[in-house]
Amino acid sequence: MPHNVKTLGVLGAGQMGGGIAQVAAVAGLTVKVFDSFPGTIDKCKGVHIKSLGKLVEKAKITKDAADAASARISFVDNLENLTGCDWLVEAVVEDVNVKKDLLAKLAAMYPDESVVLATNTSSISITELATAAGKGAHRVVGMHFFNPVPLMQLVEVIPGLQTSPEVVQRTLALATAMGKTPLEASDRAGFISNRVLMPMINEAFYAWMEGVAKPEAIDGIMKLGCNFPMGPLTLADFIGLDTCVNIMNVLADGLNSDRYRACPLLKQLVSAGRMGVKSGRGVYEYPGK
Ligand code: 3HC
Repeated sequence: MPHNVKTLGVLGAGQMGGGIAQVAAVAGLTVKVFDSFPGTIDKCKGVHIKSLGKLVEKAKITKDAADAASARISFVDNLENLTGCDWLVEAVVEDVNVKKDLLAKLAAMYPDESVVLATNTSSISITELATAAGKGAHRVVGMHFFNPVPLMQLVEVIPGLQTSPEVVQRTLALATAMGKTPLEASDRAGFISNRVLMPMINEAFYAWMEGVAKPEAIDGIMKLGCNFPMGPLTLADFIGLDTCVNIMNVLADGLNSDRYRACPLLKQLVSAGRMGVKSGRGVYEYPGK
């Protein structure tokens, strides 16, 4: 089934939204990005220049293709100006109320039921988010990209209880057209990716807290011994330690088990403002970030 998308609307110009916009534009779609913070939009434009430049350097795309992709992306800082899209994907903060509020607004702005409302949530129930779209719940679907979006192959596709089979097929087609490999998972807390990944990261924090090994050794052991591209503590810094805690909380509540409780040390670092790369310090220090 074709995806039937010409103009993609992306809500949120942060790490994930910016990455989604970039890969969609490289795939030939017209992309309109909304973010209410002009500073975030400026940062996103800078990231696109750097990221597309690196792809050109590595001969993944030509300079002309990169320029054409940049020209296909436009930005708005007022939601009302996000018009003319035939598919929307939200990548705003991982907060159920913020996402539901936004999805309700989008459903009202786009009454045409052929416009899909996709969410890039990493763990929140699609079924619950879909209720915000009222009778449009069948057009809400999980479309979970991975960081850094231009380099990561997977899109986890998650139908909610109400999502129509047609929307799922179109989502698989769109992800494929964006150069990704879509794989389906059911709407259970953390889906597959974070249900498996986050407890491993959490366990690495426990091992550090208990003094089993230093962070560098924990990461080195997992990197060299298990062939991971980076150790779990480094990866946690990239994801954001606050996001890791939030996802663990969703797992603990959604899967109804204490074995998913966030490690006290992980929570303590977050309380101290050590969020990872984005705050300049998490497990490790990132001077200049
Ligand atoms: N998030 C953000 N940026 C990342 C990143 C991540 N997880 N991993 C790597 N990067 C950045 C690096 O900082 C580097 O940026 P720079 O050039 O500006 O310094 C750039 O990507 C290239 O990194 P490498 O030097 O490692 O280059 P490679 O080409 O050898 O490998 C990679 C790139 C394939 C991204 C590899 O580093 C990798 O596989 N990293 C792990 C990525 C990963 O596991 N992502 C999933 C995170 S979980 C997630 O997104 C789900 C969410 O719900 C939590």
